[in-house]
Formats: sequence, structure tokens, C-alpha cells
Amino acid sequence: MLNTNLIRKKRDGGILDSDEWQFLINSYCTGDVTDAQMAAMAMAICINGLTPDEISSLTCEMLASGTRLPRVSDRPRVDKHSTGGLGDKVSLILAPLIACVGCDVPMISGRGLGRTGGTLDKLEAIEGYRASMSIDESSKILKEVGAFIIGADEQIAPADRRLYALRDVTATVESVGLITASILSKKLAASLDALVMDVKVGSGGFMHTRDDAKELAESLVRVGGQSGLPTHAILSDMDQPLGVEASAAIGNAIEVNEAMEVMKQSDASGGENPLLDLTVALSASAVMQAGVFEDLKTADEQLREKLASGHVMERFEQMIRAQGGRLSGPIPLEQRRDYFAETDGCVAKINCPAIGDAIIASGGGRRSGGETLNHRVGIQTHVRIGDVVEKGQLLFSIFDDSDSIASSVQKSPEPWVTMADSPVPANKLILETIP
Ligand code: URA
Repeated sequence: MLNTNLIRKKRDGGILDSDEWQFLINSYCTGDVTDAQMAAMAMAICINGLTPDEISSLTCEMLASGTRLPRVSDRPRVDKHSTGGLGDKVSLILAPLIACVGCDVPMISGRGLGRTGGTLDKLEAIEGYRASMSIDESSKILKEVGAFIIGADEQIAPADRRLYALRDVTATVESVGLITASILSKKLAASLDALVMDVKVGSGGFMHTRDDAKELAESLVRVGGQSGLPTHAILSDMDQPLGVEASAAIGNAIEVNEAMEVMKQSDASGGENPLLDLTVALSASAVMQAGVFEDLKTADEQLREKLASGHVMERFEQMIRAQGGRLSGPIPLEQRRDYFAETDGCVAKINCPAIGDAIIASGGGRRSGGETLNHRVGIQTHVRIGDVVEKGQLLFSIFDDSDSIASSVQKSPEPWVTMADSPVPANKLILETIP
């Protein structure tokens, strides 16, 4: 087989068979397929797409490029993965929550990508926290605590690690086939019994339309199932940052603080708390697939009970300690400045791209790989789409000692919070579940 022939075939809209995918990925790992050739292939895939069989083959080969984590107990092994969005700190609560109902959660997470924050960056706001460790060490933590949150190292789907870095700098991230194979190769490497995907829809995530999000969700569910990993997906709102009742935190330390607030509260009945409600819905889907509860209603009740009991916060602290972190209350933030409504009205839009860019501009996110972050900068939005607001009401707060977020607010071509004169319906939190 010739590398260039495979690229040519995909460029011209052809379909590669499983042997050809095996050859391509093996050769990429040995260096016989160069980064330049793989970048050309990624672009051909972005333009011409992959068939479901091709996505399965690519997933399988990327998985086979590394090892699988060993099973360490008889407990069901489940996980959740999100396509990423502004203020999405669900993983911080979900991992200890699911561990508290008797499952193992070996969570392999990522860093911030574009405007969407990364779970590892958030956790590294905690002094001493280590996201990188050997398989032996992480297995020990899983056995003792029931959950860990680490980064993928060279042993987990290394072909994806290389390809992902290449896609990031060649405008080839946005492909349903490549995203499916990238996510599932890492999740399959964690030897899971069940997976739930949170596919975000809206301006604060990757997938801006419901149709695009649904296509990705269906691909993940189909390829996960074909690869022996039962997978469900929830499509959830990302036209506004995700948070608690009165506010949504965006940034690293501030999101850890908000997640801890949820784990400390003694009322977990939800209803008006999107972060709590989405976390419970995703957790219930994961544990139901693993057969822990008989029906979703029981799962929902039991999970909320665990949250209200304080055990989830204890388990979170245990996991953080096991990973080297030192937590003593909320993490200090930079100086706070508040912004108020200049008119009465109803909230019609929250400018997620501008908020995400302001976090990056102030050092809370990365412009290029390897940059060191300022974990203590953050933003809090205090209104949601559909809220009726009076002149002078608090809209958002920024936490930043330099003037960089404040200057982003001033320079933004569109306001961060757009007000309408007439009523605007609130967004639904969960748009659809698949299947
Ligand atoms: N997250 C991943 O792990 N891979 C992608 O391709 C996109 C998001």
C-alpha cells in the first residue's frame, strides 16, 4: 500500500477498508506516514466525510495504538464525556457522585480547547493537583476512591494524541468522523461498561446547531455500540454558560468553587439549578446503563439524596487528596468588578464567544499549546435567557486584576447580555436524549 494512494482515494471521495485504516494508523505511529501526509488525510476527511464503517475502523485502530486500563474491581465502570462548553464543570461533581453509588469512574479528560474550558485546567487551579500519573498509580486510586480524573498520556490512544495536535493547528477539528474516533478511542481505552455523552448545542460549544449536534451524538452512540461500549447521548443547551440558580461561573478556580458549592448544599431537589439538574441527568443515564438502578426515577432520587448527604463532597476531597491536591475551602479569586443593566428588559442573548475570548485574553485559557494559565481569573453571569431584568440589576461580574477582561467588555462589538423589549422564552436545558 502507498500512503499517497490512500490520501488520493479519500481526496476523491473513496471509501477506505479496514486493512487500509490499519495500515494508515500503524504507519502514522511508526513515522512512515508523516505529519504532512496525515494533515492532508485529515483535510480530505473533513471535506468528504467518513462512512459509519470507516469511523469504526479508525476508532478501533486508534484504540489499538495504545493500551487499555486494567479493571481493578468488580464494580461497574462508567464515564461521561462532554463535547465542551462555557462553564461546563459537570465532571467535577459527576465523578465523585457516581463513585458514591458504587461505580468506578476512570475519567480521562482534556485541557481547554478554543473557548471551551478543560476539566484538567480547572482541577489544576487546586494547589498540588496532579493530572498525570502512571497506570499503576491511577489504578490504585480507582480501587480505593472509586474515581480519578487524569489526562491521556502516551499509553492511551497515542495515535489520537498526535492526530489531535495536528488537527488543532490545521483547521481539521470539525469533522463528525474524526471527533467520534478521537473521543471513543480514549473512552474504549478506559475499559468502560457504559458511557454517556453530553453533546452541547449552541454558541458556547463546538456544535452551534441542533442538527450538527444530533449527527455527532448519533455517530457516537452508533460507533460506541458497535465497539462494545453501550453509549447514550444527551443534547444540552450551550447558548448560555452552565451554572447554578443565580449565576454561572466561567474560568478555572471559579468553576471549582461553584462545583464545590453544589456538592456542599443540603438541598439537591434542583428544578431551578441547571448545573445540578444536568449532572444528575447525565449520572442517571450512565448508572442506569450499567444496571445499578431499575429505572431513571429511582436513579434520579438516589443520586439527589447522595448529593444532599454531603458524601459526594467528601468523595471529591478524597479524590483530590489522592491526586496530590490540597484544598482548604474556596480558591481565592482576583479582584471583582460588577456590571449592571442599563435598561429594563428581558434577556434575549448571552454573548458566549465574547465571554470565552475574554477569559483567553486574560490568561484563563490558551492561545497556543503549552501556555501557563492564570487560574484565578473568571467571569460570573448572573442572568439567564428569558429572565426579566430591571435597570440597575446585576448582569455579570469579572474577576481580574489586570484590565484585560474589562477592556474586552468595552471593545466587544455586541453587548455581553442583549436585552429585548418583549418577553423571550427560557431555553430548555435538555433538548433530546439518544437513543
Ligand atoms: N474532544 C476530543 O477528545 N476529540 C475531538 O476530536 C474533539 C473533542
